[in-house]
Amino acid sequence: MFLLWALPLALYLFYRWSIATYDYFEKRNVPYVKPVPFFGQVLSFFTQGRHAVDVASEGYRMFRNTRISGVFTLRTPAYLVHDPTLYKQMATKDFDHFTDHVTDFRIETDPILARSLFFTNGAHWRQHRSGLSPAFTGSKMRSMFGLLSKSAGDAMGRLLVFAAGKPFTMELRDLYSRLGNDVMTSISFGVEVDSLTDRDNEFFLKGKRLAQIDGLPGLKFLMATTIPRVFHFFRLSGMYKDVNEFYTDAVARNIQLRETNRINRPDFIHLLLQARKNTLGAEKHEDEALQDAGFSTVKEHTLEQKMGEGKMNWADIDIAGAAASFFFGGIETTTTLLCFTSYELAVNPDIQERLRAEIDEQRESLADGRTPTYEVLQKMKYLDMVVSEALRRWTPLGLTNRKCTKNYTFTNTDGSQVTIERGQNISIPLKYFHLDEKFYPDPLRFDPERFADPNNINQDAYVPFGAGLRNCIGSRLALMQAKCILFYMLSNFIIKPDTKLTIPIVIDETSAGLNAKHGFWMNLVPRSA
Ligand code: HEM
Ligand SMILES: *[C@@H]1O[C@H](CO)[C@@H](O)[C@H](O)[C@H]1NC(C)=O
Ligand SMILES: *[C@@H]1O[C@H](CO)[C@@H](O)[C@H](O)[C@H]1NC(C)=O
Repeated sequence: MFLLWALPLALYLFYRWSIATYDYFEKRNVPYVKPVPFFGQVLSFFTQGRHAVDVASEGYRMFRNTRISGVFTLRTPAYLVHDPTLYKQMATKDFDHFTDHVTDFRIETDPILARSLFFTNGAHWRQHRSGLSPAFTGSKMRSMFGLLSKSAGDAMGRLLVFAAGKPFTMELRDLYSRLGNDVMTSISFGVEVDSLTDRDNEFFLKGKRLAQIDGLPGLKFLMATTIPRVFHFFRLSGMYKDVNEFYTDAVARNIQLRETNRINRPDFIHLLLQARKNTLGAEKHEDEALQDAGFSTVKEHTLEQKMGEGKMNWADIDIAGAAASFFFGGIETTTTLLCFTSYELAVNPDIQERLRAEIDEQRESLADGRTPTYEVLQKMKYLDMVVSEALRRWTPLGLTNRKCTKNYTFTNTDGSQVTIERGQNISIPLKYFHLDEKFYPDPLRFDPERFADPNNINQDAYVPFGAGLRNCIGSRLALMQAKCILFYMLSNFIIKPDTKLTIPIVIDETSAGLNAKHGFWMNLVPRSA
């Protein structure tokens, strides 16, 4: 008898509790996606099989005439920015209201990720970022470029040997993530590996394992913002203990090796060791000429030192954390860029031919006719147009976020005042800005000509590397690396769609990042064939 009414009552109370927050945006006069009781908007992630970025950005196309909208994950309200100019303002002029990324890591359970720049906040982030910025300037990128180009060139040589002059079929995501692994292992950890031959080397396996479940800025951060419960479930156990130890050891051993043998290698470990000794500086003069890695390059802002904030003390573990964050921040995203660029080149042979002509022309000016230099890549206009358009059409990181750190009031389109309260999470749908016909007519068409004259591009609405003081620190490196690998690929091969390639490409909705469901199967035809 008791159960007969207790159960419905309990269910009713649970229901009331689960919807108690759902008037949040109503009260604030902000349009919002109607939540499903208890689930908020998360349910469509499971039932409709849509990509997490699209689920989180759902409101963008629903409400066309607002600068911001609301969304619920379970019971928790969060904002979605619709106006790229508002995002730009939040990220630059009004930065002190939004100094943080949404983060959920603790040093005790995630010693490496919690120390990575993307997930660090507050004073710690300021120290980190200003300490690391000098490692990413133009002149540093150029010295690193030598290592990068050598690593990619060696791999290309092995690929040519493998081809033996005949066309062959290859899945490009696998190829590019191996190349990316080798390049980043070389410049982040100071170790040379060859993942094309030594297919199961530890750096590749550990990196892959962490990237699959933990990738930065991939899944972990997406899950943290869209489905926090699932996220907590996954990190219940210290399942990455070995991975954490692996990177910490690799870096500690490497530092020791250098200090005992006085090795000097122009990579991140070297720069971070300089930071530790306070000898990492900027070469202002040189930097300016080398700063520009293409239209997509983001500006590095200067952070003022706050009163009472000391300089960063770089312990070995901080160096490991920084190196690991470059590793994870860089490989997935750059691989994605290369895969989709190659896809577009394969299905648009005229664009591929035009790009190859530009590459061949530049090769004539190279000493060995083969190895691109930083300066040569900087000069290549069409290559830059192709890469810029690929970053727009296939934005590798489709969503970023900010946490409101100080109440923020702005005027909405209808003239009403909106106040975002301190502590609220805010999603920024970079992908949706890039696919909005308001900014890019016929947005699904791949057309490098959009970037022929940069003045035609709305700069606020072109943000593949984010915006403001928390933009991507690695944009130069990513662009130079992608351009270098494309240079080698098109110098040596004609990329053709394989019969196993699906056209148009089908996106894997379950993937955290941006990926093709059936792979990037291409037929690589050696040019000498
Ligand atoms: C095509 C490749 C890449 C893309 C599309 C990309 C994109 C992004 C985006 C959108 C953000 C967030 C910006 C924001 O919230 O406003 C970000 C942050 C970041 N990226 Fe990248 N990235 C790429 C490659 C790299 C590389 C190669 C590295 C390192 C070597 C890197 C390191 C980072 C770090 C450390 C952050 C966090 C910065 C901070 O919070 O201060 N990324 N990236
Ligand atoms: C913001 O997102 C984080 C990570 O998912 C979550 O733990 C936190 O509760 C959210 N904060 C608010 C105020 O919604
Ligand atoms: C922020 O806004 C909330 C709600 O409007 C208010 O209760 C709180 O006092 C404000 N905080 C500050 C520091 O102004």
